[in-house]
Amino acid sequence: MKTLMPRKTSVITVDSGPMDSASLGRAAQTIIRGGLVAFPTETVYGLGADAFNAAAVAKIFHAKRRPFNDPLIVHIADLRDLSLLTRDTDEIILRLADSFWPGPLTLVLRKASALPSEVTAGLSTVAVRMPANQVALELIRAAKTPIAAPSANLFGRASPVSAQHVLEDLDGKIDMVLDAGRTRIGVESTILDLTRLPRRVLRPGGISFEALREIIPGLKAYRGGEILSPGMFERHYAPKARLVLVGREGPEQIGMVREIASEYAARGHRVGIMIQSEHREEYSGPFDIKVLGSGRKPDTCAANLFETLRDFDRGGVQVIVAEGVPEKGLGLAIMDRLRRAAAKETHV
Ligand code: TXA
Ligand code: MG
Repeated sequence: MKTLMPRKTSVITVDSGPMDSASLGRAAQTIIRGGLVAFPTETVYGLGADAFNAAAVAKIFHAKRRPFNDPLIVHIADLRDLSLLTRDTDEIILRLADSFWPGPLTLVLRKASALPSEVTAGLSTVAVRMPANQVALELIRAAKTPIAAPSANLFGRASPVSAQHVLEDLDGKIDMVLDAGRTRIGVESTILDLTRLPRRVLRPGGISFEALREIIPGLKAYRGGEILSPGMFERHYAPKARLVLVGREGPEQIGMVREIASEYAARGHRVGIMIQSEHREEYSGPFDIKVLGSGRKPDTCAANLFETLRDFDRGGVQVIVAEGVPEKGLGLAIMDRLRRAAAKETHV
């Protein structure tokens, strides 16, 4: 059996501002030599390899235990690098790039033949984005190659929003982590398919549907429950604990969360409840109660989401009963991730 090569995972701490040149040089050399470097983006930490090195890309799948049919996103630092990945040049690409790049928008385009098929899981299309994070951009520029990077977590687990999360899942399996603290947005990028009409969102994320529709008026909304992207499997983003999602907002929501949580507790489970700050006074009892954020502030809830799910796991909770949040702005991405983490246990 092929064993995973690494070794010790180096952790390089990056304070705000440009990276010191020695650290940047080490990280870039690791990519150039076909190694794996986890790095921050504005959404979540990515696990990067040289997108044009098929063997290095294969290591990503091994380290994450990710199925080979789940394609990766390729990260670029400059718009001209797009031509390495695709021959598409539609005006809409430039308009979207102009409005949202660098930023949490991934575009699905027709793939250039020179890009190894390992990156795109054999698809004729490629997903590309330019991250809004200085460390990520410096790394891509110093390595002088686009970097293929999925989220830096074990397959199926909650995405990492800190270097600590990356190490929880991948310590000893990757060469390096660049630790620049918590990521700003906390949920992954929005994926927009430009290869077919009508254009549509394949995964809700850091750029809201409302913002995209200002540029593409006919844009097709993302409909939950569909698996449009290969690799967007039903159970995903999940904590180790069982997650039960109580979706619909309103007075019944609190009653239902209480009831489900009490039932599990009565059966002897350690139960956590994830709630909106507005509801803090509504709950008491033998539960680990964690506030996700204000229901009126989806950005804060998104930034806290994966950290809170991992916190429950660290506390040894067996069941998490989660309040759903309003599906506006980043609320759509939050609910998408919660539905997938809960798989079938969603109460509306
Ligand atoms: O914010 C993000 O997007 C983060 C950071 C690291 O950039 N990355 C991320 O990657 O979330 P990952 O691998 O966890 O999710 C990428 C997803 C795949 O699971 C797949 O659903 C979709 O992107 N994807 C990639 N290539 C695609 C393609 N050619 N067509 C359709 N979907 C694609
Ligand atoms: Mg992922």
